[in-house]
Amino acid sequence: MTSSVSSVSTSRPALDGGLRRPAPHELLGLTSPAYGGDYNPEQWDEATFAEDLELMAEAGVNLVSLGIFSWARLEPREGSYELDWLVEIVGRLHDAGIAVDLATATASPPAWMATDHPESLPMSADGVRLGLGSRQQYCPSSTVYRERSAALAEVLAERLGDHPGVVMWHIGNEYGCHTAECFCPACARAFRAWLTDRYGDVERLNAAWGTDFWSQRYTSLEQVCPPAAMPTFHNPAQLLDWRRFSDHQLRSLMEAEARILRAHSSLPVTTNFMGDFPATDYWRWAESLDIISDDSYPDPADAAAAHEVAWAGDLMRGLADGRPWILMEQAPGAVQWRRRNSPKRPGQFLLWSLARVAHGADGVLQFQWRQSRQGAETFHSGMVPHAGRAGRTWDEVVATGRALKRLGPVLGEPVCAEAAVVLDWDSQWALSSTIGPVEPGERFEAARAWHRSLWEAGIATDIVPVRADLAGYRLIVVPEVFIDYPELARNLEGAAAAGAQVVVAGPTGVVDTDAGAVLGGYLGSLRPLLGVRVTDHAALSGPVGQDDSRGALVNRVSRAVGTPAAETWMGLEAVGESLRRVLDQMGTPAPDLRAGGWAEEVRIDEAPGGVEAGQGQEPVEVVAVFDGRSGGADLAGRPAITRRPVRGPGAAWYVAADLDAVGRAALLRLVCAHARIRPVVADLPDGVEAQRRGEILFLLNHGDRAAEVAGIVGTDLISGEVCTGHVVLAPRSALVVRSRKLG
Ligand code: GLA
Ligand code: ZN
Repeated sequence: MTSSVSSVSTSRPALDGGLRRPAPHELLGLTSPAYGGDYNPEQWDEATFAEDLELMAEAGVNLVSLGIFSWARLEPREGSYELDWLVEIVGRLHDAGIAVDLATATASPPAWMATDHPESLPMSADGVRLGLGSRQQYCPSSTVYRERSAALAEVLAERLGDHPGVVMWHIGNEYGCHTAECFCPACARAFRAWLTDRYGDVERLNAAWGTDFWSQRYTSLEQVCPPAAMPTFHNPAQLLDWRRFSDHQLRSLMEAEARILRAHSSLPVTTNFMGDFPATDYWRWAESLDIISDDSYPDPADAAAAHEVAWAGDLMRGLADGRPWILMEQAPGAVQWRRRNSPKRPGQFLLWSLARVAHGADGVLQFQWRQSRQGAETFHSGMVPHAGRAGRTWDEVVATGRALKRLGPVLGEPVCAEAAVVLDWDSQWALSSTIGPVEPGERFEAARAWHRSLWEAGIATDIVPVRADLAGYRLIVVPEVFIDYPELARNLEGAAAAGAQVVVAGPTGVVDTDAGAVLGGYLGSLRPLLGVRVTDHAALSGPVGQDDSRGALVNRVSRAVGTPAAETWMGLEAVGESLRRVLDQMGTPAPDLRAGGWAEEVRIDEAPGGVEAGQGQEPVEVVAVFDGRSGGADLAGRPAITRRPVRGPGAAWYVAADLDAVGRAALLRLVCAHARIRPVVADLPDGVEAQRRGEILFLLNHGDRAAEVAGIVGTDLISGEVCTGHVVLAPRSALVVRSRKLG
């Protein structure tokens, strides 16, 4: 077999401390996208290993992740290492042309660590030490875990850091996946040390946490504890700092290993992310990594799974600063950890693999190569299933390997998006740490919803941090960025002044970085740009308690009391022609604008502050008002969507309600028209997504029916056929065409 991963020494540019950040294919010496998966040969015998090499050749595997859960085999007794078996496997894979993404193996400590050092086990918020027999059973502050994991990384780097078969380092595995926080005494001490660094003295902590509320004032930092089990609500600032600390603690483990690896080896390092995993601020993690990689498991039983693929891909590209990234894990078929574990539908494995590439992946790896025969993941699919080569999974695995092999021209090609959605972990933590104003989701629901609306409309979209350089974007959506960031406001003002459309949706700019409320009207530093301020929140609560709808027949007093706040939606009405026309064109049943349970009372500022001196006096237009239907009764006539022209085409829109899918789609149509943003391919049939990387166009038919697309001219990279205009995509299939962008 010839490998598409060439030898390390000739093709990989040296890393230079992160100043120059080459793309993954340069770092790994790839000539086609990486393909393979987690490989756990220690679970199998020699005959199986030999068969694996043959099957990997048949499937076109060129990269495997090795050793992720091998610590117990590599260091069977504390301080005594057995690496020969691993070195031999790396060598045999290398001889077979398969490169290795070598794990530092620190994801799951061996039994001796738990039995000889029980304090290394993590503690739950209730004070329970978690037991041995699963995985990731370590406290992130544990000295012994820190020392032993660092030592193991060093031993591996020394022994295998310049082995020609190893092309990258895989640090740990899914940090925080099971143990994102630990409430043990060591973590309490580490938390205090972190707070001491942050605040210097106890009075500054008292001020930041507002401890005069509920008599929480501390007289010494030694009194401060993690927010473990408590009688009632925690202090939001304490919880927010705890989340930052817990993230920092995990990140410091990864960074310690990265430093050791870099001291001994010039190979790039990665750790596998988990999409928008709530506990870890990946914007920060990404700064320490050479290659961004992701694990992603959309549920085939969810009609929005294709959006999950797009969302995760756009996020990883953002984390990689616009460069390509690698899909480190997906399931070839079903997972085993949901209540119901649906297999991928025929064609979906290849389709979603290509969709990852369309969103910037230059590698597609799976969990795992061979389905385990024992253990907790026995019924999680593998590239080689229990049934072996019999069955659909293997056929699709081989077909996907073949397809990826043809996609060399995609490597390194950028996705060019003119729209961006701002995403901020710290805001998500602040929102979920505060008590009210609503029960928040944990996973960026608003950002996902706006991103999905753009994706469904066919608009290529980047996901960016609050500190991003926004120059060049024509549309920037800021959904539910709960913390007020003056720097973001300045960048948005700059973008709007340069002609961009800025769409801000609440609740945004509600608290400062200590979770303290913004005074004088929410939106804080965004008020001058938007020309509005939020004077109160007006959330609905939805149906409460038992259904007593017939109570009005007999309940003489309470039947006269209106409770709009108990409804689940509220109506909006477009003001003026533009939005109403869009709604009419969309052909939805009626021009019906609705929001869900979130709304705000908004006041328009008479003389909004200047975006730039002399530019600030444009009046704010009301685009839609609450119309009083359902839960919106008390807001009737008040602004729900506003628009403030800034300069030229530039404008700042504010959305004071959580618009439903129809409302978001309508508003985005209008905003995209102002921004002059067009879909990647216009007028696509239902089910078809289009994405572009440079000159390469991806047409992805997620639908259950064949779809016809006109105007596609170019060469199909996978089949080699020439498309001369009209193409037909089978259900759940894709076309990857090299074709110039038209118009
Ligand atoms: C995660 C882990 C893998 C495996 C898969 C199963 O992504 O990293 O080890 O457990 O989940 O879906
Ligand atoms: Zn701990």
